[in-house]
Amino acid sequence: MTANILVIGSGGREHALAWACARSPGVRMVWVAPGNGGMVSAATGESAAIAVASVATGDGAGMLRLCQDKAITLVVIGPEAPLAAGLADDLRGHGLTVFGPGADGAQLEASKAWAKQLMTQAGVPTAPGWVVTSRMEALELLHRLGRPLVVKADGLAAGKGVTVANTMAEAEAAVDQAFAGAFGRAGEQLVLEERLEGPEVSVLALCDGRDLVLLPPAQDHKRIGEGDTGPNTGGMGAYAPVPFLDQEALEHMHRAIFLPVLAAMQDQGIDYRGVIYAGMILTATGPTVIEFNCRFGDPECQCLLPLMEGNLAAVLQACALGQLAEAPTLGIPGSAASACVVAAAEGYPGPVRPGDPITDTGSASSGSMVFYAGVKRTATGQLQTDGGRILATVGLGDDMDQAFDQAYSRLSQIHYAGKTVRSDIGHQVRRR
Ligand code: AMP
Ligand code: GLY
Repeated sequence: MTANILVIGSGGREHALAWACARSPGVRMVWVAPGNGGMVSAATGESAAIAVASVATGDGAGMLRLCQDKAITLVVIGPEAPLAAGLADDLRGHGLTVFGPGADGAQLEASKAWAKQLMTQAGVPTAPGWVVTSRMEALELLHRLGRPLVVKADGLAAGKGVTVANTMAEAEAAVDQAFAGAFGRAGEQLVLEERLEGPEVSVLALCDGRDLVLLPPAQDHKRIGEGDTGPNTGGMGAYAPVPFLDQEALEHMHRAIFLPVLAAMQDQGIDYRGVIYAGMILTATGPTVIEFNCRFGDPECQCLLPLMEGNLAAVLQACALGQLAEAPTLGIPGSAASACVVAAAEGYPGPVRPGDPITDTGSASSGSMVFYAGVKRTATGQLQTDGGRILATVGLGDDMDQAFDQAYSRLSQIHYAGKTVRSDIGHQVRRR
């Protein structure tokens, strides 16, 4: 394969995708649009160059022109919003090879009601849930059942649409908030769902429409505070693989969750070429789905890709072409562990102050990587904070302790005012 790749998006996930594609044999050039100011600084082990093009994520015509100008042979779409808006369909309609589902498949993430119905139809284990379209209907259901359900806005709400209520008053307040318009059209209908107990894991599959391959399981840390407390964030760190999920457990997920969902989509005529991300709770009765995403997780992607051995670009291209069976395999070295720690801005997930200069007193090494997210580069070349999650470091090791040592030690070399980091990422699997 000789490829010029375009990665669409601007976060840490897209930096990791660009980095992994740039290391893949046969790749000549990786463009990222709109990218960010940290993506040009060299990470380790890349064979192809990475460059940023300033085309906005929602600018379909601009993306098409970029593909034509740069002779792009594979487009990889990172975020959910352009997928749900049909960017993959547009680009495919112009003959491009695209990794990422069309708007039909992206409903898996863009409508929780649609996903719930699909899971029910496919017999996939998921938290029992109800779709409601009015405040009255929601409140009646809560009162009839007499327990605080998890309240979820149906549509895309930038990770803010879910309330895991502890009390009836919290559940009612979440219902009121959604029907008062807090999530715009995304909150016009809700899914109310039973609360599940158990550890949460993320498992991602790469799909070519008919077939799929699972990546190693990862665990994300969604809360801002130490000990998994405080408000939910996009994700403050992750680790992979998850030691309490063995090969047998993954094979069960493959059979009982991923293949039935893919088959149910095929039955509806949906040709799903991209990532199916299952967020699951490992309950006493087995893994149970609480959400699907139609994209790589962030920061799961940063954590997983450095762990993988093999030609990622070739596998993504094979998925995009519907030819996964002919793709090289992606493996992980026997005892390898990967740890990812996110550094956020002060105040995140609330309002943050942009413009703090970032300095890095360390250097690239084969055991650690830096993936930039909310940053910009000024006209004079200085890197500055420009968002909530600023960057993530990833450490690799023979075990989790070594991997976390690498990630935290690399993070200690990067400085900016208000740097906000959880010191306990991976507490479930670290011995020190
Ligand atoms: P989501 O925005 O769908 O990722 O949900 C945010 C978080 O809410 C998840 O990561 C879970 O920690 C939690 N959550 C969602 N649904 C449930 C559920 N049915 N039971 C318990 N926790 C849940
Ligand atoms: N890290 C969670 C997500 O990407 O949705």
